[in-house]
Amino acid sequence: MKFRQIKEGEIRFFIPTGRKYDADVFYNEDAELTRDISVSALQAFQKSSKKKLIVCDALSASGARGLRYAKEVNGLEKVILNDRSPSAAKLIKKNITLNKLQKKCVITNEDASLLLRKNIFGVIDLDPFGPPVQFLDSAAKAAFHKGFVAITATDTSALSGAYPEACLRKYGIRSIRTEFYNELGIRILISSIILAFAKYNKAFVPVLSFPYQHYYRVFGRIEHESSLTRLLDEFKYVNYCECGERSFGEPEIIHKNHKCKTCGPIYLGPINNTPFIEDVLADMRKRDFKLRKEGLKLLDILRNETELFYYDLHHLAKLNKRIVPKFDKIIENLNKKGFRATKTVFSDKSIRTNVNLKEVLKQLK
Ligand SMILES: C[S@@+](CC[C@H](N)C(=O)[O-])C[C@H]1O[C@@H](n2cnc3c(N)ncnc32)[C@H](O)[C@@H]1O
Repeated sequence: MKFRQIKEGEIRFFIPTGRKYDADVFYNEDAELTRDISVSALQAFQKSSKKKLIVCDALSASGARGLRYAKEVNGLEKVILNDRSPSAAKLIKKNITLNKLQKKCVITNEDASLLLRKNIFGVIDLDPFGPPVQFLDSAAKAAFHKGFVAITATDTSALSGAYPEACLRKYGIRSIRTEFYNELGIRILISSIILAFAKYNKAFVPVLSFPYQHYYRVFGRIEHESSLTRLLDEFKYVNYCECGERSFGEPEIIHKNHKCKTCGPIYLGPINNTPFIEDVLADMRKRDFKLRKEGLKLLDILRNETELFYYDLHHLAKLNKRIVPKFDKIIENLNKKGFRATKTVFSDKSIRTNVNLKEVLKQLK
């Protein structure tokens, strides 16, 4: 394997030369922003937990993520960097040495599920190719009961409605096609995580969730089983009509003469926690990340995204033969009327608001 050296955050590391999907060890430079956010999110959690945490970067590849945690997050006891690929384990070793992190880091070279089954970790990071489902059970078993878990899914097409059967097979929920596909997809992912952890009497409480490029990333605090009732009470059905109307609760046909679909039950509670995101923002403001501006912008929009489901204004305008005015204007109009309205990181064609479809349509010219 030939290598080149790069810098990301506060670490330098070797990655294989050549095309990323052909390389022996995977490194995705496009994921730097989510690694930045992960560093700040872990630091925010560590501060609130006041514990010396042991972190498991279960699918580590070059070690980029785990090494950044080890170097950039204060208050960690150890970072375990695991990958079942022998080439990855070799490269991780080289990268640990390069950054002089031998005292903080431990390399393991085994199947992530087996490693998780044998241990308890304060923090678990699952960053797989495709769906994380095959690791969820073991992660639920391994998670410390007051821990923190970060999970990526890259099979967004199954989750967001393009492949309903694949979604049912992997996540146990049949997805449907809607214009709020990213919201639905990330909620199906979160639902399957909550249910996996519930089997072990642990509550996965989502605190930071966002789509980015072709993947979803969610972070959750692990809480005592007493939080489970509150989480499970939020599992409801999403009913969606082709006219853009939606309802939540029990399954129903919204308009008898229209095409209507139902998905669920899925978790419809909060997926972003504003105080936590403010802590992440505060941490990121102090950092020298190359992509700091983009990170702050994403988190700033995200912290206001507390309303359920967004409206795709382009889709609604097309359906109703209307013209879309400037988004800022619509948001300003709705705010003036006393409603909540904001842009959303889930779709650049949409706004998130607490008004009904009729009121949204009034805003389209
Ligand atoms: C998407 S890459 C991880 C990228 C890395 N977290 C980063 O931020 O750069 C997924 C890695 O998981 C490893 N992997 C796949 N299945 C595994 C398993 N069952 N156990 C351990 N490692 C596995 C692959 O070898 C690959 O290096």
